[in-house]
Amino acid sequence: STNTGFGTGGGGGDQRNGGGAQEKACGAGPDQLEGPGPTENDPIHLKRRVGLVSGVALIVGTMIGSGIFVSPSGLLERTGSIGMSFVIWMSCGLLSLLGALSYAELGTMNTSSGAEYAYFMDAFGAPPAFLFSWASTLVLKPSQMAIICLSFGKYAVEAFVTECEPPEIVVKMVALLAMIVILYVNCYSVNLATSVQNVFTAAKLVAVLIVIAGGVYKMFDGNTQHLKHPFANTQYSVGNIATAFYTGLWAYDGWNNLNYVTEEIKNPSRNLPRSIIIGIPLVTICYALINVSYLTVMSPMEMMTSEAVAVVFGNRLLGVMAWLMPLSVTISTFGSANGTLFAAGRLCFAASREGHLLDILSYVHVRRYTPAPGLIFHSIIAGAMVLYGTIDSLIDFFSFTAWIFYGGAMVALIVMRYTKPTYPRPYKVPLIIPCVVLLISIYLIIGPIVDKPTIEYLYAALFILGGMIFYVPFVHYNYRIPFMDGVTVFLQMLLEVAPTTNMFD
Ligand code: ARG
Repeated sequence: STNTGFGTGGGGGDQRNGGGAQEKACGAGPDQLEGPGPTENDPIHLKRRVGLVSGVALIVGTMIGSGIFVSPSGLLERTGSIGMSFVIWMSCGLLSLLGALSYAELGTMNTSSGAEYAYFMDAFGAPPAFLFSWASTLVLKPSQMAIICLSFGKYAVEAFVTECEPPEIVVKMVALLAMIVILYVNCYSVNLATSVQNVFTAAKLVAVLIVIAGGVYKMFDGNTQHLKHPFANTQYSVGNIATAFYTGLWAYDGWNNLNYVTEEIKNPSRNLPRSIIIGIPLVTICYALINVSYLTVMSPMEMMTSEAVAVVFGNRLLGVMAWLMPLSVTISTFGSANGTLFAAGRLCFAASREGHLLDILSYVHVRRYTPAPGLIFHSIIAGAMVLYGTIDSLIDFFSFTAWIFYGGAMVALIVMRYTKPTYPRPYKVPLIIPCVVLLISIYLIIGPIVDKPTIEYLYAALFILGGMIFYVPFVHYNYRIPFMDGVTVFLQMLLEVAPTTNMFD
């Protein structure tokens, strides 16, 4: 069949495309798989639908997820004082802003989707880009998914056991259940997944507003006793501060989200930097206010020991409406998990289309047009992480890996200033900014290792480099394992999926 309803494909076409290395751009994602099929007069490209408002929403909606409802306790524990944790919350916001401004230069210079993947291709060539897609498919995206679903489980269960610790196994089972539902939604239809996303984003904003309004009310009521002596008991160890940053930065993760969809932004050289400059400070302000709100109803000690701060907050403040809090947090986390799996499917799909991952992962369901194999693959890894990990350990593991690549993107920017000096750069960031972000990311990577060398960091680093073992034979020399084709055909029939390349190329 030729007209299967696939809307858009590779992003090449009319784009000015970085080094031209990835003409078959990585933006051909699951969310473009519906709509009128490509015709000869209408070359295959992504539609530019994201304006300033949706740009800001994409950033804010991804950033606000589980972190602000879960991380405050961990951050306080690692810093020892509310003053220091506040400083870290704000520094994380600033760091995200500086990082995102640097990404704005990269994203307006190379307007193909796929963020780091595209920039690494331009600056360093295929092997580092491969390592990025390798690590993000196998580690980054699944661990994001696992952390958010665990937070979902925590809040969903906490709602029924008020203010005491829920049994871990129950939390994990609920997390897995949520993951299965989200997998089903995303395999069922792209439209269903995006609708879920919109409804749930709205609900999450309600949760944020409730907490802020409650805090303001309490503040005027004179509940400021916990805000005195903010720096008492501060811990100044290098590693503690770095891991406290990990906890805080998790809540801000997603600041580079718009860079994954640059091909769909209207007038990206204007709207990408603007969305960043509006979106990230907005989130930073919300987080500052929410932190203060929490402290108007509980002491730092209570905050540190509480498993789900927002539930405690609701119980103390909302009376008969207390159920509103855990409900809105479960909704917020469910929405984040849905968006994260959605993006993960897209990334997996793109990288395997480049020949960087197993072919089967780029196949799409023959009737539903959803990238089911990639989604199932991600969910299996994420499920294992839910079973064997805890929120805190997964956050450290995730942040360590993520900041290696964020730092790498800064190097890419700096390198390209010298190797591609004449490239048009519609938005040019002062060079000092990526340099500062690079130095901080080096600190964030080295700090925890020096302070407390746990074996997980070594695993993560080895794992990333281990990707080369696969790159050389399977990508560089394009070696095919003899029985693999049989496996692919079997899975194809089992899952009812087919390759899409003939539609796109
Ligand atoms: N910041 C979000 C949270 O607090 C997590 C975002 C995960 N990252 C992503 N790119 N989806 O839950």
